[in-house]
Amino acid sequence: MAIIKESIRNQITFSQIPFGEGLKKGVQLTPEELIKVVRDSNIRGRGGAGFPTGMKWSFTAAAKGDKKYVVCNADEGEPGTFKDRVIFSNWAKLVFEGMALAGYAIGADEGIIYLRGEYTFLRKELEKQLEEERAAGLLGQNVAGKEGFSFDIHVHMGSGAYVCGEETALLEALEGHRGEARNRPPFPATCGYLGKPTVVNNVETFAWIASILVKGADWFKGLGTEKSAGLKLFSVSGDVERPGVYEFPFGITVEQLLKEVGGEGAKAVQIGGASGHCVPASNFNRAIAYEDVATGGSIMVIGPQRSMLDVLENFMEFFADESCGQCVPCRIGNSKLLEGVRMLQEGECTSKYLNELCKLAETMQIASKCGLGQSSPTAFLDIVKYFRRELFSGQAF
Ligand SMILES: Cc1cc2nc3c(=O)[nH]c(=O)nc-3n(C[C@H](O)[C@H](O)[C@H](O)COP(=O)(O)O)c2cc1C
Ligand code: SF4
Repeated sequence: MAIIKESIRNQITFSQIPFGEGLKKGVQLTPEELIKVVRDSNIRGRGGAGFPTGMKWSFTAAAKGDKKYVVCNADEGEPGTFKDRVIFSNWAKLVFEGMALAGYAIGADEGIIYLRGEYTFLRKELEKQLEEERAAGLLGQNVAGKEGFSFDIHVHMGSGAYVCGEETALLEALEGHRGEARNRPPFPATCGYLGKPTVVNNVETFAWIASILVKGADWFKGLGTEKSAGLKLFSVSGDVERPGVYEFPFGITVEQLLKEVGGEGAKAVQIGGASGHCVPASNFNRAIAYEDVATGGSIMVIGPQRSMLDVLENFMEFFADESCGQCVPCRIGNSKLLEGVRMLQEGECTSKYLNELCKLAETMQIASKCGLGQSSPTAFLDIVKYFRRELFSGQAF
């Protein structure tokens, strides 16, 4: 479909991977051997949390269940993230094949794509390509010629809440309930969709698995850093000359990345979406990797003309709005932080009260029930730490 090709800015490895090849290779292995390849590649999930994919698949393979599921998390609700949309627009079949490989590895015959509600425009084309995969024998009965292995995929439209990207809230939404995070444990690997063992992975993770089967675990492991193997897609937006989707190895510094995208004059970069870290210019030598600044791929570049207070107000409005309200630290905490930012805007927040809000933010990080409330105060704390003077002046400088 290639409808968003213009936003691809450099050579992306997925373009070199022939459709079907990874899946055909994978089903020649035993499920155990396939999981070993995934483990050996050291790939970590590309959705943000960075959990080792091989480990997740082996837990789900070992879990007892008469039925298991593979779920593709295509909610892509993190502000500043659009790389999954571009993957689906150009290399959807690699995602389907990664899902089928997961099915083969864990013993599942059904895959579900949970597609962000705003991506309805992709649905028809995805369904057309699923049909092509069936016609090519890469979905359905005896997938890729593997006797006895059946696997098929359908698309489920998301209903619009950011929290539904959190995997357990996503499963609730899939089951037709209100999208609210579950208590963990149990984890989806043992008790997921309809209470059955379920693998939930990000769109990009599945596409890399299909690529790893073609190019080899050593190839992937040899790229990136020790704890953050491989290449990563980044959605770059904001005050840059060339916004779009880029592929870089993990370990690239913020400075190197800014040079590639034409954002050298930035005063800060928000890495990992609104819930990620805000890195000021003085720290642009930091590496983008799980060892340093982690990310699911969102890079929002903040130019010198921007008010950090406006940036922060925008983030906190988002979180106050998107908190599902289930737990107090997140429901009340985000509203209080937003109120504090507005007090700063009005010149009515004292330094002492701002310190109190920072304590509240730290409490939210440890006491919130799910990742939304645990990560929503991160940018608040970073911006207060690095831009305190600017926050009190109310002026960008
Ligand atoms: C509030 C919130 C939103 C999330 N949104 C997404 C999302 O849109 N896409 C995604 O893949 N993971 C998202 N995640 C992470 C998922 O919970 C989960 O870790 C991920 O889908 C696992 O896939 P991976 O291991 O391949 O990264 C979100 C987490 C939280 C807390
Ligand atoms: S942290 Fe926020 S989003 Fe998560 S359960 Fe609590 S209120 Fe809901």
